[in-house]
Amino acid sequence: MEKRIVLKNETDTRALGAKLAAQMEPNQVYALIGDLGTGKTTLAKAVARGLGVTETLTSPTFTIVQEYETGRLPLYHFDVYRVNDEDELFEIGLEDYFHKGGVCLIEWADLIEDLLPEGTVTVRLAYGDGEGERICSIER
Ligand SMILES: Nc1ncnc2c1ncn2[C@@H]1O[C@H](COP(=O)(O)OP(=O)(O)OP(=O)(O)O)[C@@H](O)[C@H]1O
Ligand SMILES: [Mg+2]
Repeated sequence: MEKRIVLKNETDTRALGAKLAAQMEPNQVYALIGDLGTGKTTLAKAVARGLGVTETLTSPTFTIVQEYETGRLPLYHFDVYRVNDEDELFEIGLEDYFHKGGVCLIEWADLIEDLLPEGTVTVRLAYGDGEGERICSIER
């Protein structure tokens, strides 16, 4: 099922993140896909807040994954933009994260499409018409 949502501004994106967080269940994987600056990290920050994570979510550019354990569910936030080699993902134990009882949010997940588990929820973000507009499509 695919759902298309127009996000008029950053506030709408944050509200979507909060809504998604409220629906999240253990062992779900969310693929966040979209060009540079479309709002993947902004959405991830709102999800973290919605789950009740007390730390500030920062981009895991150099570590691939950051783990947040203070919310309703553990949150594993990935950014695979700079991953050059699939071996780097096996080294961090990517597969294990999919069934550790938490939620995985993976920025740039389109780069590792083959490695994503069945049932991954795909969240695509694209630029809209106005400056702050984004088009989001969610496929479950
Ligand atoms: N509707 C919107 N939703 C999200 N961000 C928006 C929106 N409108 C404007 N912005 C701005 O766009 C930028 C989004 O940056 P963000 O880091 O979330 O993107 P990203 O997709 O994670 O980029 P990257 O691929 O570099 O990681 C921010 O500067 C934010 O203020
Ligand atoms: Mg980002």
